[in-house]
Amino acid sequence: MSDAAVNPGARAVQLRAELEEHNYNYYVLDAPTVTDAEYDLLFRELEALERAHPELVTADSPTQRVGAAPAAEFSGWKHIVPMLSLGNAFGHEELHEFDARVKRALELPAEVDIEYVCELKIDGLSMSLTYTDGTLTAAATRGNGAEGEEVTGNIRTIRAIPLKLRPAGDLTGVLELRGEVYLAHEEFDRINREREEHDEPVFANPRNAAAGAVRQLDSRITAARNLAFFSYAIGATGALQLENHMQLLEFLRNAGLPVNPNIRLAKGLAEVQEFCDHWESARHSLSYDIDGVVIKVNSYALQRQLGFVSRSPRWAIAYKYAPEQAETEILDILVQVGRTGAITPVAVMTPVLLAGSTVSRATLHNEDEIRRKDIRIGDRVIIQKAGEVIPEVVRTLTEKRTGKELEFIMPVTCPVCGHAVIRPDGEAVARCTNIACPAQNKQRIEHFVSRGALDIQGIGPALVEQLVEAELVADPADLFTLTVEKLESLERMGRKSAENAVAAIQGAKNPPLGRLLYGFGVRYMGSTVSDILAAQFGSLERITTTTLEDLLAVPGIGPQIATAVYEFFQQEQTAVLLQKLADAGVTPQSAAPQGEGPLTGKTFVFTGALSFAREEGERRVKALGGKASGSVSKNTDYVVLGEKAGSKADKARQLKVATLDEKGFLEMMGELGG
Ligand code: IVH
Repeated sequence: MSDAAVNPGARAVQLRAELEEHNYNYYVLDAPTVTDAEYDLLFRELEALERAHPELVTADSPTQRVGAAPAAEFSGWKHIVPMLSLGNAFGHEELHEFDARVKRALELPAEVDIEYVCELKIDGLSMSLTYTDGTLTAAATRGNGAEGEEVTGNIRTIRAIPLKLRPAGDLTGVLELRGEVYLAHEEFDRINREREEHDEPVFANPRNAAAGAVRQLDSRITAARNLAFFSYAIGATGALQLENHMQLLEFLRNAGLPVNPNIRLAKGLAEVQEFCDHWESARHSLSYDIDGVVIKVNSYALQRQLGFVSRSPRWAIAYKYAPEQAETEILDILVQVGRTGAITPVAVMTPVLLAGSTVSRATLHNEDEIRRKDIRIGDRVIIQKAGEVIPEVVRTLTEKRTGKELEFIMPVTCPVCGHAVIRPDGEAVARCTNIACPAQNKQRIEHFVSRGALDIQGIGPALVEQLVEAELVADPADLFTLTVEKLESLERMGRKSAENAVAAIQGAKNPPLGRLLYGFGVRYMGSTVSDILAAQFGSLERITTTTLEDLLAVPGIGPQIATAVYEFFQQEQTAVLLQKLADAGVTPQSAAPQGEGPLTGKTFVFTGALSFAREEGERRVKALGGKASGSVSKNTDYVVLGEKAGSKADKARQLKVATLDEKGFLEMMGELGG
């Protein structure tokens, strides 16, 4: 008999300890000892165990990182010790002034060397983590310094943040451990690529994307952003006894929080300046953005002596790097046609070196943006990498105009298909109105076969282009009618490649439902939303016949998304596409939990404090064929009321929806065999 069968409780404890250890090795020590697959295996074992024994679930279990259903709003959170801001220094001169001020305040002679800790200034958003007796009990943004917003549910999704501290010292009482939530470049690029594919506005820089993720009301969306964290400060210190900042950093790291390794204990100003200069040029080798260096007096005794001026400590300063800019010339403004027909103007520029790479194109977003910045073809402009990733035009050097510059005119017809381009009233984006536009078709098909969707290997943009031009394929469903002979008729296509492509296409006929939904490329229906819909509705049929109201009731689906999804499935063309896919034998795997069962057609809402996790309740309902929703409507069948149930209980009474207490719910489950 397996360990788990003999003593599930002990096995759960063991699995949690192992998973925590792996997290620590990976995120803090940067030295993983297992592969991702091995980690996932342990994780899934723990999930299965907790599913079979819900009473074993603990709040700090690694399975509980994505917790409660979306919140309506965040509540305020008062910091025990206020979160301060830092004064800035630009250039060596101002650093020198800072050092001189420190010595003056300490009444030390100018030739003394102060011990400073130099750290990178991570460009993210600051976060205060409250640990009570070693367990993460709250996370809050800085806000106005005295009071921020409580975003615990979202911060728990960050795997680099331990839900429980390692025994690195006396952890009794309340600790406020502080640091920066940030987004690594790779994740930022991935998110923006996905947003671009969905015609959603891209984030200007990783900081904005991270801030948006932290302020999500649905923590599943936060989880999908893969945020990261570096710790560098403390507020309330509980029972800890620390003498200097280096000791704090060591404590943080031993306690299991990631600490940026690029730090220097500098003796005196010269070493500080060296550190600042080094990272000014080396910053592009980092996988995340920094906007400067933070310099802190190491000794806590000296820090206390120095104190504060207004809301900044006198013992620390932020040395800021100037954003990198370059001057270049706009050679032309082209337009690109996106999957939903969106026409985006793009500047083609004389290539220049900027922040470590050569850039020759910049997105100009839309017509209004071009007018606002008064950008003309032939203009000399200053460009900058917004958040150091996407180049943008900062301003036009109108003083350098020769009079030969040309204003950009948005084409009235699509440059690809010649159909009318229309910009609806009140919208910033102009669109090609031809749903059959080859540019749109190509992009839709490319998206359909892309990695996050059906992941059909060997069908890249070049082949899609050939297929559309040869009129072999006009929509995603046509792919499945391709034969080796048809493919072989294309230029540069050998028999072997044709056979491989056909095999890959045929092998993709049973995609997971979430991926197929994502593959349709509906605006706002990104991979997270697609997965949520798949899990909620379970089958393509259910989604196509859903009402707008049902969509709106799904946790995490707002009105904009719900409307876009609903409208997509109402369209005649969608019906045709779905029929073609079905005829071609494309049948998505239904999402697991939603089978037929005694609760089929019944919708449950959980509210208030229950002795089991809300997800557990939802899972049990789904296992019996039912649905779970985040809000009470007249379509709700049962509202399960925990302790301190609030507005949802009132709504249930108002709409005369049946309610169950926890005991009643568990009895019902028991009777139904769930
Ligand atoms: S220390 C009292 N250290 O920069 C000192 N801040 O401009 C509190 N930041 O609000 C901050 N990296 O969000 C500190 N290594 C670092 C930092 C850092 C980034 C941010 C932080 C702070 C802002 C101040």
